[in-house]
Order: sequence, then structure tokens, then C-alpha cells
Amino acid sequence: MSFAQFAKSLPPSLSLVGRTALITGSSSGIGRQTALHLARAGASVLCTDLQPEPLGAAKVPSEGSRHVPTHDLITSLGGHAAFHPLNVTSESDFRSAIAESVTFGGKNRLDILVNNAGITHFSGGIEHESVDVLDRMMQINIKGVWLGTKLAIQQMMTQEPIPFPADLEEDLDSFSDVPPSVPLRAAYTAQAGSPNTTAGRLAGDKGARGSRGSIVQIASIHGLIGGPSEPAYCASKGAVVNLTRQVACDYAPHRININAIAPGYLAGTAMVAEITPELADQRRTYWPHQGSARDVANGVMFFARDAPWCTGSILPIDGGTTAR
Ligand SMILES: NC(=O)c1ccc[n+]([C@@H]2O[C@H](COP(=O)([O-])OP(=O)(O)OC[C@H]3O[C@@H](n4cnc5c(N)ncnc54)[C@H](O)[C@@H]3O)[C@@H](O)[C@H]2O)c1
Repeated sequence: MSFAQFAKSLPPSLSLVGRTALITGSSSGIGRQTALHLARAGASVLCTDLQPEPLGAAKVPSEGSRHVPTHDLITSLGGHAAFHPLNVTSESDFRSAIAESVTFGGKNRLDILVNNAGITHFSGGIEHESVDVLDRMMQINIKGVWLGTKLAIQQMMTQEPIPFPADLEEDLDSFSDVPPSVPLRAAYTAQAGSPNTTAGRLAGDKGARGSRGSIVQIASIHGLIGGPSEPAYCASKGAVVNLTRQVACDYAPHRININAIAPGYLAGTAMVAEITPELADQRRTYWPHQGSARDVANGVMFFARDAPWCTGSILPIDGGTTAR
């Protein structure tokens, strides 16, 4: 079944047909899986990275799809995607990519930004880490996320809220096998004693719980807890986590959702391909195996698809690592 047929078969709560997404660092790992998941649900996906080819593509055999650029793979599977070069440290690159996404999706809006691009460096402790490593980590991991968030919010503030996909379905407590005559969920009612005089729909909203857009940062468990051997990385990811919380507070009244995912130790990503056995041994999860980029992509789908009242949330996807 092609991506387009798959998307058409989805109920509203699972569909992203008509939505436009931009993903940074989409050529490899989490970014690539996220692009594929969003496109399969029907989103138009602007893939952005330094280069379209997956990292390590030159090393892998040419069979299978792993060497194919993400946007080409999506297109060949019947989805809608294109590639735009974007170095996340460059404001002008970001401006041009966001402008491109707005026209590319054909809806004059950007619905989903995934700030995913990032790098790490295992230095063996701060005494061994150079200032150059710190500077690179801060440039890509936090300046890149700050820039993307700022420029996406500038775009999203010009857009009207639209319903989350699940708003197009009935409430399950009034579920019947007769198709609903009023497709939108009713507005939430104001709670007694609530200081908020408006709950649910605001005047002029087109949807019951409309959002202007959703921004998802790919942080790390090392934005929440310390981890072995990566001081600059941990510092940069801690900054991503608290930037997410801050911006979420400012833009909640404007109905822009800003959340972060804190992935734990993933297997099969280029970022950790050359980790030493000693270091790998310090990066165990409670779950009997490590996670994959797909596990993280599923978290992005949650925030992009039907998480209307989630903002400033930091979601660990880590096999229980931060539960201790
Ligand atoms: N792999 C893990 O175990 C893991 C765990 C926690 C968090 N993360 C985070 O997830 C994100 C993605 O990691 P991944 O494992 O998929 O990495 P990856 O190395 O497989 O892919 C990262 C992508 O980012 C791109 N990139 C690097 N610098 C860039 C720049 N300046 N501008 C634009 N693109 C750039 C690379 O070309 C690459 O395609 C990162 O932010 C990382 O910190 C990864």
C-alpha cells in the first residue's frame, strides 16, 4: 500500500493529510524515521539537512533503501516530500527553509517543526574536553533549536488555529454507529471557579481545540540527567529542555504547542555507532534492549497529531533510564 493510500485509510485522529512539516537533520537516524512516519500519515514533509544522503551512506551496500535520501524514499513510496539544504546554525538558511515549507505544502502554513539536528562528542570528562567541542555543541544543539523555534513561531503567529485531527471525531462517551451529524467535538465547558472565562473554542477559531502549530524538539535524557563522558552535550541538551519550557509558557495563550522528547540510548544510529564497549556498558537501560529511532518517531507523532493540551512537556522515551 502506498503512503498516499495508507494516509487516506486513516481515521481523522491518526491522519496528517493537509499538514506541512519541516524536519531538521532529516537525512539520518531519528530525523529520517520521523520524516517517514509523518509522510506516511499524509503530511507534506520538507526534509532538511546539510546533505540529502544518510550519514554513513557510502559505507552501506546499495541493496535496500538505507542509502536512498529520505525525500526520495518518501516520494518513491507515494508520499509528498522534498529536500532543502539547511545548516541549523544559519539564520538565513532557516528563514529560507521555512519560507520554502510554507509554499511547498500548498496551504500557506507550517504546521509542524521538528528541531532534530544534533551532534555529540564523547570526551571522557570535562578535563579532556576542548573549548572548540563546547562551541560546536552549543552552535548546533542549542543555537539551532533556538533559531528554528523563533522563526517557526514568527510564521505560526500569522496562521489561524486549525483543529487537531481527533477534533473531527465524536467524543467516545457519545459514540454510536450512526455517523455524527456534527463532526467537531463540542467545546470544553468552563469549570466552576476557573479564572479562564473561555474554555475550548475561542471566538474565530475554526476548530474545537485548534492549534496554530506544533514544535517538537529532540532533546535527550541528558537534558534531564547527567550521562557518562559528554559534558558539553549534556549542557546543550539541558538548555534545549528549559528553552522548550520557557517558550511554551509564552506561546500557550497563542495556541502554539511546544514540547520536547528526551530519547535514551538508541541502537543503530550513526551518532553512537563508534561508541567504545566500556562506554556502551555504562549506558544500559532497564528495558532489556536499547530503543530505536522508530520509538522516538512515534513520540513525535503523538505531539504532532493529537496532543492539544500538551505544551512544555518533556517526554522521556528511554526504556526506563530516567525512572530510577
Ligand atoms: N542516537 C541517540 O542515541 C540519541 C539519543 C538521545 C538524543 N538524540 C538526539 O537526537 C537527534 C538526532 O540524533 P540521531 O541519532 O538521529 O543522529 P544522526 O547522527 O543519525 O543524524 C543527525 C543528522 O543531523 C545532521 N546535522 C548535523 N549537523 C547539522 C547542522 N549543523 N545542520 C543541519 N543538520 C545537521 C546530520 O547530517 C545528520 O543527518 C540529535 O539531536 C541527538 O542529540 C540521539
